[in-house]
Amino acid sequence: MRVLGIESSCDETGLAVFDTERGLLAHALHSQIALHAEYGGVVPELASRDHVRKTLPLLQTVLDEAGIEPQAIDGIAYTAGPGLVGALLVGASIGRSLALAWGVPAVGVHHMEGHLLAPMLENPVPEFPFVALLVSGGHTLLVEVQGIGDYRILGDTLDDAAGEAFDKTAKLLGLDYPGGPVLAKLAEQGDPARYRFPRPMTNRPGLDFSFSGLKTFALTTFQDSDKNDQTRADIARAFQDAVVDTLLIKCRRALQQTGVMQLVIAGGVGANQALREGLGKMTAEMGATLFFPRLEFCTDNGAMIAYAGACRLQVGERQDQEIVVRPRWSLEELSALATP
Ligand code: KG4
Ligand code: ZN
Repeated sequence: MRVLGIESSCDETGLAVFDTERGLLAHALHSQIALHAEYGGVVPELASRDHVRKTLPLLQTVLDEAGIEPQAIDGIAYTAGPGLVGALLVGASIGRSLALAWGVPAVGVHHMEGHLLAPMLENPVPEFPFVALLVSGGHTLLVEVQGIGDYRILGDTLDDAAGEAFDKTAKLLGLDYPGGPVLAKLAEQGDPARYRFPRPMTNRPGLDFSFSGLKTFALTTFQDSDKNDQTRADIARAFQDAVVDTLLIKCRRALQQTGVMQLVIAGGVGANQALREGLGKMTAEMGATLFFPRLEFCTDNGAMIAYAGACRLQVGERQDQEIVVRPRWSLEELSALATP
């Protein structure tokens, strides 16, 4: 079965074709970074309009790259939520329209299920059950995954998501949008011994997170400093070390608590090298196995949506033709995949 995936939940338009026999045939991405940069953050209306402009040209790109005609597509998967409502509606409307025109089924995919299953596009693939750390701009979740659609949330953030904390801290240090990767780059030049930030919520039991205090800590540290370039790098380093350490502590705890020895990491912050290295070391010490997507599939992309949708379409999941998106949508509301 060949499935077209459409991702448009935020500031990236991603298209891909996934073949259940042959794997990923093609994927293409347009990032809106340049569009939103002058505003210092995503402007929802501009995001929607840009998805309108980019989706069909990217569709042609992936069809050409896969060397197929539209008739070769057997199903369509589009991101139905969570995300920006206008942006989601663009992908959903185009996905539904193409499905109607091509006479194929379509399915709305949960964006975080896409992230969670992205490591399935790599080799080796993780086997169920596994624990997933989902760290993106909007979410920080620890999830016990028994199978596709069978998700138990072990921990969530009480305030800012990890990516959001990276972005906000970057902004207050005067770094360019999107801050996460820029802050991570700057942290490489930082002195790890100059500042020490707290590791929030690690002294009490449980797997929830809270990152907004770290951002405030960074702000007061910066305000009280000489504000020079080295200080910026030192604060970036202290902030990143605190986030990474906190995520490591909670991941270790989640593995111990569940007895599951496979850890999957996904979402934009999963592209962070310090986090990847830290988790690699931690899982090796525990005798656990770590899986993560290639860097380009950590951040938003169409391939993960095509894959997640293909899993559901393949077992006969169908939705009617109504265009429904869910800007807020918990992973736990998904249904476990029926066995084919
Ligand atoms: O998964 P994603 O592309 O979009 C959402 O679903 O939110 O994640 C984007 C987030 C942003 O907050 C971005 O700053 C962060 O991931 N991010 C990073 C890195 N690359 C992306 N954060 C820290 N280090 C990175 N290398
Ligand atoms: Zn995402």
